[in-house]
Amino acid sequence: MQVIAKLVGIYIRYGYQPITGLSPKHTNNWMSDYTFLVKGTENCTPHLGITPHEIGFMECVLEAIEPKNILVIGNSFGWSTLALALSNPAARVVAMDCADEPFTLEWIDHTNAIAEKEGLSARAVKGRSPDDVDAVMDAEFDGKLDFVFFDGDHTKEAVINDFEAVHRHANPQCVYVFHDVLGFGLMEGVLRTMASSGLSGRVVYGSPSGMMIVYNKELEDRLALSFATYGATDLAMGMLNLMKQTETGRIIS
Ligand SMILES: C[S@@+](CC[C@H](N)C(=O)[O-])C[C@H]1O[C@@H](n2cnc3c(N)ncnc32)[C@H](O)[C@@H]1O
Repeated sequence: MQVIAKLVGIYIRYGYQPITGLSPKHTNNWMSDYTFLVKGTENCTPHLGITPHEIGFMECVLEAIEPKNILVIGNSFGWSTLALALSNPAARVVAMDCADEPFTLEWIDHTNAIAEKEGLSARAVKGRSPDDVDAVMDAEFDGKLDFVFFDGDHTKEAVINDFEAVHRHANPQCVYVFHDVLGFGLMEGVLRTMASSGLSGRVVYGSPSGMMIVYNKELEDRLALSFATYGATDLAMGMLNLMKQTETGRIIS
């Protein structure tokens, strides 16, 4: 079964109905493809979860790199944390969230309860990035990081500071995925992380939030299929540019 379907099933068993991946073409709403958590008829989600396409992309990447240690910055209601644990059962997944609101604070415990009940190697902890990254690393991992998913504070400065805080705890082949880069204008921050680390990066055009992946060039071949499947290629970018040039959006030869 697909990871996204397993994930939806988990939340239903826990008494919630996730609404996820609705095409904005049909809803006139650019964020309807994100994930909302509904209980009864109430939308109870102040912070939305990532989209099915983004889960698919990370699932593909994780299968290619087989990480042991995964850090998530930004747990919200555990959606991406549990998705990463389902995608890679052999890895240890730890998510940190500053949990400033009752919702995110409650979901630290809920995420841990779900993970335990479902037999998933995932854990959520209260902690603010970048200040608490060292403490989380000391307490939760016995090795360096192989994959990091950034979805906490959505500013250019936070992207730079969060990356700096985790990079010193990461293996040279660690892969970094940043959520909401195009959607929230975070590109400059990600480009700075690439410049400071010497790592390569790509925009994942197939991800609704405009994610970026930052990675060691040596992984290019291993990641090629993930890139090709989710539009993280020069060809995809060329196609977008070409479509912008035509009135109808169709490519004219
Ligand atoms: C968009 S939500 C994350 C959604 C989650 N990744 C998912 O797909 O299920 C952003 C989360 O980041 C948390 N956050 C914001 N700034 C943070 C920081 N500096 N450190 C840790 N967590 C932070 C918020 O409390 C919120 O829960």
